[in-house]
Amino acid sequence: MRASKRSLLGGPERRAGRRKGYLPRSKLVDDLRHYQSELEIQNKALRFSQSAAEAAYERFVTLFSSVPLALMVVDSRGQILQNNARTLALLRPEETDPPLTYFLPLIAETDTARVQAGFASARDEGICELVEVSIRAGLGRHLTGDLHIARLDGTEMGGDQFICAIIDQSPLLAQRSALQSSAEALQHRNAQLLQNRSRLAAIIDASLDAIISTDAAQRITVFNPAAQALFGYTRAQVLGRPVSLLLPDAGAALTQTDAHAPVQLGEMSARNHQAESIAVEVSLSLEHHPDGASATLFVHDLTTRKKMEAQRSALELQLRESQKMQAIGTLAGGIAHDFNNIIGAILGNLALAKQDVLDKSQAMTSLHEIEKAGRRARDLVRQILTFSRNEKPHRIPLFLPEVVQESVRLFRVSLPPNVSLTSDIDAYTPAVLADPTQIEQVLLNLLTNAMHAVGQQPGKISVALTCNLAGPDLPTADPKSPVVLRVSDTGCGMNAATQERIFEPFFTTKPVGQGTGLGLSVVHGIMQAHGGKVSVESQPGQGTCFTLYFPQTARSCVVNAASVSVSFAPKGQGQRVMVVDDDEAQLFLVRRLLSRNGYQVIAFSDPKAAIEALAHGPGQCDVMVTDFNMPGFSGVDLLRAVHALRPDLPMALASGYVTPEIEHDALAAGARALIHKPNDADELCQVVATLLIGADR
Ligand SMILES: Nc1ncnc2c1ncn2[C@@H]1O[C@H](COP(=O)(O)OP(=O)(O)OP(=O)(O)O)[C@@H](O)[C@H]1O
Ligand SMILES: [Mg+2]
Repeated sequence: MRASKRSLLGGPERRAGRRKGYLPRSKLVDDLRHYQSELEIQNKALRFSQSAAEAAYERFVTLFSSVPLALMVVDSRGQILQNNARTLALLRPEETDPPLTYFLPLIAETDTARVQAGFASARDEGICELVEVSIRAGLGRHLTGDLHIARLDGTEMGGDQFICAIIDQSPLLAQRSALQSSAEALQHRNAQLLQNRSRLAAIIDASLDAIISTDAAQRITVFNPAAQALFGYTRAQVLGRPVSLLLPDAGAALTQTDAHAPVQLGEMSARNHQAESIAVEVSLSLEHHPDGASATLFVHDLTTRKKMEAQRSALELQLRESQKMQAIGTLAGGIAHDFNNIIGAILGNLALAKQDVLDKSQAMTSLHEIEKAGRRARDLVRQILTFSRNEKPHRIPLFLPEVVQESVRLFRVSLPPNVSLTSDIDAYTPAVLADPTQIEQVLLNLLTNAMHAVGQQPGKISVALTCNLAGPDLPTADPKSPVVLRVSDTGCGMNAATQERIFEPFFTTKPVGQGTGLGLSVVHGIMQAHGGKVSVESQPGQGTCFTLYFPQTARSCVVNAASVSVSFAPKGQGQRVMVVDDDEAQLFLVRRLLSRNGYQVIAFSDPKAAIEALAHGPGQCDVMVTDFNMPGFSGVDLLRAVHALRPDLPMALASGYVTPEIEHDALAAGARALIHKPNDADELCQVVATLLIGADR
C-alpha cells in the first residue's frame, strides 16, 4: 500500500516537468502507457495483498470459531464485539439465557474489580492472565475459569480491543475437589483402620484365652498376655518360632484344615515353658492369602475345668459312698434294733443264772465270759444305732464332771489289771450344752480305744477335764474358754497315715471281727453336733491323746429326775413295780429280775389293761416301768394316761434307742427316768431304786 502511494505521488511530479518542457505526444503516450502498466502492477499487488488480508481474516475467523477455547473480542467499553460458538456453549448454554452483550456483567461481583484491573493491565502490557475467576454461565449458574486477556493491535480507530479467552477450570476443580474428598475419605478410613487395629489389639490383650497367630510357615506372629501366662514364655521368646513348640498337635491340624470359617480343633495337649503338659481346647481361624494361609489359634485352658470335673466325680463318688453308707446304716439300724431285745434277754438271764450258780464254779467262769461278750455286743448295738440314726442330740445344760466321773467309774470295772485308769476332773468346770447319753458314748469309745491301744503290756489311761486351756476357735464363736476333756494313753500310738483316716466310718486297723471302725466316727459326729471339736496327737509307740473341746453355755443347769442316780442298787423292800412290755420274754425276764431283788412285780403285756388296773386301784403300785415301742400304743401314751390317774407315781420309759424327741416327750408326759435297752439287772434295779428314792424325797 505504502509503495503504491509513493508510486502515485511520483506520477504528477513527472507530469509537471514534462508540461514545462512540452514533451512530445508520443512520449506522453508512452509515459501514460507506462504509467498505466505501473498502475496495473500496483493494482495487481493491491488485489494480491487484499486477497492475502482476506485469507488471513478468514483464517482468523476459522481459527476463532473452531478453536476449542471460549474466545471473545471485547472493546475498550467492555462491549462484546465477537464471540465464538465455544463461548456461547459455555456462557449462554440455553436460548433463554441473556445475550452476551457486555463482558463485565458476566463476571461475578466478587471478581469484577480484579477483571477491570486485568483489562487495564492488558491495555498497558498487552497481555494479562487472571486465574479462577467466577463467571456467570447463563441464568443462576457459575463456572470458574482462568481468563487470558490480550490487546489487539491495529484497532486504534475504534479504541482498544481485546481478545479474551476463558479456560473453564470447573471440571479440573471438580476433579480436584473429588480428589480432595477421596483423600479425606482415605484419611478417615485410615484413622478408622488404626482405631480398629488398636481396638483389636486391646481385645487380644484383654482376652482370657490365649491367642496365638501364625504366618504361612506356622511361625508365631502374635502372642497375647494370656498366652504368656498360660505357656510361661515371653513374647520375645516365642515370636518367629514354630507353633508346634507350644501345641505339638496343632501343626498337622493347620496343614490339613482348609476351612474359611472358624474351626473347633477340640481338646489338645499343650506344652509350657517347664515342658509340662496342659490340657487345652483349641479353635482355629484361617486367613487365606496368595502366599499361603495365616492362622489364629484360640487356646482355652482346661486345667480348672478338668479339676472341677475331677472334683465333681470325686463328690459323686462320695455321694454314692454316703448313699451306700446310709443304706448300710439303715440296714444295720434295723438289725441292731432286733438285736437289742435278744441281747437284753441274754444279759437279763445271765444275771439270773449268775445268782443261781456257785461263785467258784466253772459255770460262773463261762457266765463271766458270756457277760463280757454280751456287754460288748450291747455296746456295739448301741454304737450302730447311734451311727445309723443321724438324729440331732438332745442337748441340755450339763455339768460334765458328773457325767465323766460316772463313765470313768463304770469303765474301770471292765479294765484288765495291766491297765491303770486315773482321772483328773475339775469339779468347777462350767456347764456345757450336751446330750449326757452321747457324752457317755464318746467317753466309752475313747476309753475302749485307749484300752485296746495299751493291749497286754502295762499301761496307763488318763482322763482330764478342765476349762483353763486355750482351745481352737469353735463354730459357736463363744469368747469364753471351751471346756476341755482329754483322754490319753500310753499305748501303741499311731502313724500319720492312720491318724488321717481314724474318723472315717469303718476305718479300723483291728483284725476282722474285732473292730467295726465306727467308734471314732461316732465321736466325731457327736462332737460336731455339739458345736465342739476333737483333735488327736499321737506318735507310734508314744501313746495317744484325744482332746475334746466343748463350748461353754450361759444357760443355767437344771438337774432333772432322770439324772438323779444312785451309785449302787439297794435291794427292794417289797415295793410294787408295775412293768408293761408287749414282749412276753422281756416281761418274764424283768419279773424274775425284780422279784429276785426284793420287789413285787405287777406285769402287763397290754398297756390298756395296765391303765384299767390302775383306774380301779390307783394305789396298787409304787413305781412303773414301761416299754416305749408297743403295737398300737406307745409308751409315752401310757405315761400320759397313768400320769393323769396317778400324778405322783414315779415312772420310767425303756427304749432301745432313746432319741432326744422320745426323751423330751417322755419327760413331758411325766417320766422321771429313761432306761436304755438292752440293760442288765443292775441297771434296771438301779433305776427302780433311784425312782423310789426320788419319790420318798
Ligand atoms: N488310742 C488309740 N491309740 C492308737 N490307735 C488308735 C487309738 N484310737 C483309735 N485308734 C486307731 O483308730 C482306728 C479307728 O478307731 P475306731 O474307734 O473308729 O474303730 P475301732 O476301734 O477300730 O473299731 P471299734 O471302735 O468299732 O471297736 C483304730 O482301729 C486304731 O487303729
Ligand atoms: Mg474303737
